[in-house]
Amino acid sequence: MAILSIRRYPDPVLRAKATPVKIINDDIRRLAADMIETMQDANGVGLAAPQVGVGLRMVIVDVDPENHEPRVLINPVVAKRSREKDTADEGCLSFPGLRSKVKRAHCVVCEAQNLDGDITEYQVEGLPARAIQHEIDHLDGMLFVDKVGPSDRISLKEDLEELEEAYNLARDVASERLP
Ligand code: NI
Repeated sequence: MAILSIRRYPDPVLRAKATPVKIINDDIRRLAADMIETMQDANGVGLAAPQVGVGLRMVIVDVDPENHEPRVLINPVVAKRSREKDTADEGCLSFPGLRSKVKRAHCVVCEAQNLDGDITEYQVEGLPARAIQHEIDHLDGMLFVDKVGPSDRISLKEDLEELEEAYNLARDVASERLP
């Protein structure tokens, strides 16, 4: 297993639409194991494949935060979402240090394949439901900052500009190292 490098905003890979996983083979199993290790190392509750630079529809979610049993969801879809919504603070491993309030369905039913290829249904509410919605959004290039309400937008803008500056600086340093 290996800890993968987590792509940070505004890396363009975070805006790309991911493609379905067609065959669950050893490469996918290894990616799942590495993503779990990467998420746990970063103390996250979810991680989507595009965040480690892989454009596949696959996410890891800690749906049981008490026992920390991360699930691998392959080709996940939100099949149902409750009309009841919650607004709560949310963060993302691709936005280090940034948190903002986001409104999401309180309860969702999610369908996904597991590593054996079986389709499994998860009914979750509260924090795990928030995490699943957040991670599935990543697969369509949708980021939590897109869902922040108007009252938080101004302070968010400054934080995003800081991340953009840091990203551009890191990219310039990397390009200077090229021969
Ligand atoms: Ni995220």
